[in-house]
Amino acid sequence: MPSFNPSGFWEAKPHTLAKIEIVRRYLYLWFSILGTNQKNKRLVYIDGFAGPGRYSNSEQSSPVAALQAAKAAIERPGAKLNDVEFSFLFVEKRKDFVENLRSVVSAGVWPANIKWDTETGSFEEKVGGVLEELRRQGQRLAPTFAFIDPFGATGLPFRVVAEILSYPGCEVLLNLDSDGISRLISAQEFEKNQKNLDSLFGDQSWQQLDPSMPMARLAAAVLSLYKQKLRALRDVRYVFPFAMNTRQGQINYHLVFASQHPLGLEKMKEAMKAVDKTGSYSFSDDSVGQEFLFDFDAPAEWSAKMQAALGGAWRPYAAYRDYALNETPFINPKAMLEYLKQAGKVQVSWRGEPAKRGFPEEKISSILILK
Ligand SMILES: C[S@@+](CC[C@H](N)C(=O)[O-])C[C@H]1O[C@@H](n2cnc3c(N)ncnc32)[C@H](O)[C@@H]1O
Repeated sequence: MPSFNPSGFWEAKPHTLAKIEIVRRYLYLWFSILGTNQKNKRLVYIDGFAGPGRYSNSEQSSPVAALQAAKAAIERPGAKLNDVEFSFLFVEKRKDFVENLRSVVSAGVWPANIKWDTETGSFEEKVGGVLEELRRQGQRLAPTFAFIDPFGATGLPFRVVAEILSYPGCEVLLNLDSDGISRLISAQEFEKNQKNLDSLFGDQSWQQLDPSMPMARLAAAVLSLYKQKLRALRDVRYVFPFAMNTRQGQINYHLVFASQHPLGLEKMKEAMKAVDKTGSYSFSDDSVGQEFLFDFDAPAEWSAKMQAALGGAWRPYAAYRDYALNETPFINPKAMLEYLKQAGKVQVSWRGEPAKRGFPEEKISSILILK
């Protein structure tokens, strides 16, 4: 938890400001792209753990950043987003924080097609309630980006996350305290935490984790299991964890992004890369329990992994794209394919004339990586 300040607000650490900047950058793209699709008359942002709207050392917060992103998208010259409704729901448990958030947001000047509302209560109760009401009325959730940013490991039921992700065009970015969750699993009196863990994972699958594992490995296993649970949801094919580090380079928590669409993860990685200058996050490979800094110039190691995972069979370009998105720091597989091509390990079946260079997706019928 961040340190408390006499002003009554928490101090934002660099990784907190980086997190908010990631939300802003991503949402600007998300609003711009989805808003230009004629089908989308309404786009929704849910901030499930909204906070007080500011920090002791910064006017920034995720609700304000989300509103600013929508405003910037709407006001971009030529944007044509005036007929889309941008709907914001900010849920916060603490009444004093909600009041402060309301006054911060009210002080801003927002385009007329931005509607916002605050709810005092828990994420589970309020967001769960909205979803239940939609279900009762046989309606769908409009395309929604849900930012789920609790402190620690409570109040984050998998059931609600899964339900948001069950609707087309809905995505989540959630703050997973894998260290905190590991501590709950390894605690002597874990029976006390059982209900919370069942809710967090949506079942008892966490019981398969070995509580005697060293903490770092257990945290990696927690992250891996959570990822698996998300990936098992229907149509949720893009899941990626970003480790957020403290200044000292220790992992603080993971931001886990889940989407039904490859463009979502592509744009999220771009947003992360743009904010990386602070050094406040890194790519997390939960299979080995180690963290890797995003390194877009070093395809060698990742190429070998892709070769091991996908080599030996002809596959469409999309298979390599999905692998690059989900399993590597890369936004597309091209650098890795190029690297393997230099080693004589890549064959391409072209649609028509072979491309002179590179791997233009539209010209590729399928690709074989030799083992
Ligand atoms: C990490 S802070 C949110 C920061 C905010 N997302 C930002 O970036 O500016 C978490 C907030 O969740 C609130 N909270 C704690 N439990 C909650 C729950 N079950 N439902 C909703 N809010 C909760 C806390 O009071 C706190 O303000």
